[in-house]
Parts: sequence; C-alpha cells; structure tokens
Amino acid sequence: MGSLTNGDSTPAMKFLIYGKTGWIGGLLGKLCESQKIPYVFGSGRLENRLSLEADLAELNPTHVFNAAGVTGRPNVDWCETHKIETIRANVAGTLNLADICNEKGILLINFATGCIFEYDEEHQMGGVGFKEEDTPNFTGSFYSKTKAMVEELLKNYPNVCTLRVRMPISSDLSNPRNFIAKIVKYDKVVDIPNSMTILDELLPISIEMAKRNLSGIWNFTNPGAVSHNEILEMYREYIDPSYTWKNFNLEEQSMVIVAPRSNNELDASKLKNEFPELLSIKESLIKYVFEPNKKTTSSV
Ligand SMILES: NC(=O)c1ccc[n+]([C@@H]2O[C@H](COP(=O)([O-])OP(=O)(O)OC[C@H]3O[C@@H](n4cnc5c(N)ncnc54)[C@H](OP(=O)(O)O)[C@@H]3O)[C@@H](O)[C@H]2O)c1
Repeated sequence: MGSLTNGDSTPAMKFLIYGKTGWIGGLLGKLCESQKIPYVFGSGRLENRLSLEADLAELNPTHVFNAAGVTGRPNVDWCETHKIETIRANVAGTLNLADICNEKGILLINFATGCIFEYDEEHQMGGVGFKEEDTPNFTGSFYSKTKAMVEELLKNYPNVCTLRVRMPISSDLSNPRNFIAKIVKYDKVVDIPNSMTILDELLPISIEMAKRNLSGIWNFTNPGAVSHNEILEMYREYIDPSYTWKNFNLEEQSMVIVAPRSNNELDASKLKNEFPELLSIKESLIKYVFEPNKKTTSSV
C-alpha cells in the first residue's frame, strides 16, 4: 500500500480499533466515519500476540485504540467466576497490545476504568477527587483489582494513553449498557455521587487526544459528580413524569450483587485544562442526553 498523506508531507491518520462488537468500540467506529477519519477494526484477539502483530503489519495504523476487554455479562460479577478469562483479556491481552505498539512506536489510546478507587478519609463525598497519580484503593471486585494492576504496569509504557472511564452514559437510552438505562430498570438503587463519562462528549475528545499524541493517565470523566437520585430526577423531568423509584443502602445492595462496586469522584482538572470547553457532568447530561431525548407533551 502506498503511503497516505493529508495533501502535505505529514502522513494521514489511520486508526486501528479493537472492540468492533462492543459498545465503545462501535461508537468510535461511527465517530471516525462521521469525521471521515480512515479506520479499521482489528480482527486479532488480545491474548494472541501473533494475531495482533499480523493486524499491525497488514493495516499499518498511525494510532491504535483499545476498546476491547471483558466487562462481564450481565455485569462485572461474571469476572468473579471467570478469573482466568478476565486475566487473559484484560491483563495479558492489554499488555500484549501495549507492548507491540511500543515496539512499533505507535500510540495506544486505552479505554480503561476509573472504578479502581473508592471514597476514603482524604477523598470524601463532595470533597477532594482522586488525581491521576493517586494509588488505586478499590480492590473489592476482581474486575477492578486486575484493572488497577494492569494500569500500574501500563504506566511504564511511554506510548500508552490510559483513559479512566466511569459509569459511561450515552444519548442512546435504549442501550442496556448505558448507566441510565441500567438504573431506571433496577428495583432499587443506591444514591451516591459519582464521576461519570458522557460518551457523546468524551469519545470525540479521545480522538482529539490521539491527534495531539497525548499519553499518560487521564481521568476521563466530566468534571464533578452526580448522584443516582439526581439522574433519576432529570429522567423524570425530561423523559417520564410518571417515573418513580426506590432507594436502598449499600448494605442492602450487597445482598443483590456478588462483588462490591466502586463509588468515587475523580478529579478531572487535567482533562479540563487540556480541553477547557469540557462541560461539568450535570451540564453534559442535560446537553447531550436529556435535551435530545426530551419528551414533549405532544410526542407522548
Ligand atoms: N461499559 C462500562 O461500564 C465501562 C466502564 C468503564 C470502563 N469500561 C472499559 O471500556 C472498555 C470497553 O467497554 P465496552 O463497554 O465497550 O465493552 P463491551 O461492550 O463489553 O465490548 C467489549 C469488546 O471487547 C471485545 N473483546 C473481549 N475480549 C476480547 C479479546 N480477548 N480480544 C479481542 N477483543 C475482545 C469484545 O468482542 P467479542 O464479543 O468478539 O469478544 C467486544 O467487542 C473495556 O475495557 C471496559 O473495561 C467500560
């Protein structure tokens, strides 16, 4: 294949994306299409180093995005009973991809998780958020524990950009992976403020981060925190005025899940400094999720 250019001497971008069948990977592909960025989905499996090397040799990308990994179905509790599969994809597999990209001098934008922290004495609800350099303190679930381990190892790779995603939300409220779609269906919900990631606003930012060749760890959430009840109040106001819900506490929640879940606020000031237009979580929820889905009386 001849080398692509942007019309000047700089080589054109070409993204290689892992996670074709996944939520975030699928959205990234659509975004590349709408932005007319050449991209391909990787066909290799993360745990198979040779298959990844073959993808890179054949496709010759300028940037690689990793939105592949096991997240568990129906939820992360799956990882508690599938520990080897979890390690294979999320630890060994992610390290394979980072290592191969490093050998080729290619930036890897890695969709990671911020569910590796929980509120503690120094980081209380409504207080100081966790920063990029803080040491993960949540090991309650196997999923989170191994994600923290791999993040620690990835720190050593100068070609890796780690994006700590949390409780992702998109404007597609019909998608069962969407945090809002999940909580509106639960019988009971806890009510705890958390950092969250509005994908409609932040996935385009991940593409811009690739263009800027940014690396290192990034809290990849909208600034601030929002509680379950605040989201459900917005849902009632914008979508369904008849919606009602019930709360329960963490102790009661522990009876219906296998592994504890992380609750935290991440400090998003590093991302905000790089992208000053970044909206706070509540502003972003309204602009990207609730306003576009607003039900007017005439449409009900
Ligand atoms: N959704 C969330 O709540 C959330 C929150 C924070 C962070 N994240 C992180 O963001 C990333 C993407 O999440 P998502 O919600 O888009 O996940 P998803 O919908 O579960 O999709 C996962 C994707 O990974 C692929 N995959 C799984 N194992 C693989 C392997 N060994 N080799 C190659 N591909 C593999 C799957 O393909 P197959 O179907 O072919 O296996 C699928 O395309 C994950 O790393 C996740 O940990 C997600």
